[in-house]
Amino acid sequence: MAYPIARHRRLRGSAALRGLVRETSLSVNDFIAPIFITEGEGVQHEIPSMPGVYHWSLDTMEKEINEIAAAGIKAVLVFGVPSSKDAVGTSAYEDNGIVQRGIRRIKALQPDLVVIADTCLCQFTDHGHCGVVHQTDCGAEIDNDESLELLAKTAVSQAKAGADIIAPSNMMDGFVSAIRGALDLAGFVNTPIMSYAVKFASAYYGPFREAAHSSPQFGDRKTYQMDPANAREAMREAQSDAEEGADFLMVKPGLAYLDIVRMLRDRYDLPIVIYNVSAEYSMVKAAAMQGWIDEKAIVLETLTGMKRAGAELIITYHAKDAARWLQEG
Ligand code: PBG
Ligand code: ZN
Repeated sequence: MAYPIARHRRLRGSAALRGLVRETSLSVNDFIAPIFITEGEGVQHEIPSMPGVYHWSLDTMEKEINEIAAAGIKAVLVFGVPSSKDAVGTSAYEDNGIVQRGIRRIKALQPDLVVIADTCLCQFTDHGHCGVVHQTDCGAEIDNDESLELLAKTAVSQAKAGADIIAPSNMMDGFVSAIRGALDLAGFVNTPIMSYAVKFASAYYGPFREAAHSSPQFGDRKTYQMDPANAREAMREAQSDAEEGADFLMVKPGLAYLDIVRMLRDRYDLPIVIYNVSAEYSMVKAAAMQGWIDEKAIVLETLTGMKRAGAELIITYHAKDAARWLQEG
């Protein structure tokens, strides 16, 4: 009697058996929680399009920081919402800027929490662009070199305040080497750079720009952010950042760009970070509030997909929720 032809067998046994062969696991160690810090006192202002996400002032942020740490999350990404803006983003690189004070406060509250500083000028410029802008005959133009100098200055002031990782998000040409050079010169040779290496010009940043008051007042970011249609160009961007000394490579946004994450994972040995951005959060929250989706299941499935695509770290506004859900099992 002949045996039947061997066939692929899906493992259908117990939960324990399925757990044994599971390829991807999600852990609280994978999460980075963004936090918005603003001037003023007693502020706990919910961002309308991002329910559950708040602007905190220095005196109220203790609650959020302690909750993040208590959830077991190891890292935060700090964004500043300053009260004053000007053409050159001065409040981004002042020693007493809102981000610098916020970083010091986090370090005082939770010394073990890894503090990642978003390094950009767009929240701090009155025109909302990520660098210095000059008006020319052909319209407004970003001054790359001038912008680099200010970004480098911003990075150093953040490191001085206690930032453990510098995360430049501006996408000017040469920003990684400019920041690496400035950090080294200032003595921060061990402060790593998490580069927003592949940042697409995306409609998914909408709620964030409302949150950070950083919408460009004229023009758009298409001259310095990437065309969503281009994957090979993304590899060239990542290549130059890796050569310039980036220690982490980030892909942003997340969900619509999982192929890019996979390509980077296969090409580089650097840690890959994915940014599950604001509109990805807002869409889930909106549908969940209508009772149209199972939020917990949707979020954990999405985050697992990001890990499966090859990301080591996930920046997500769902961090605290997801940490709790993972604990519940
Ligand atoms: C600033 C910055 C942006 C985001 C992170 N850093 C906005 C932008 O590029 O316009 C977006 C994050 C999000 O949508 O959650 N350069
Ligand atoms: Zn920016």
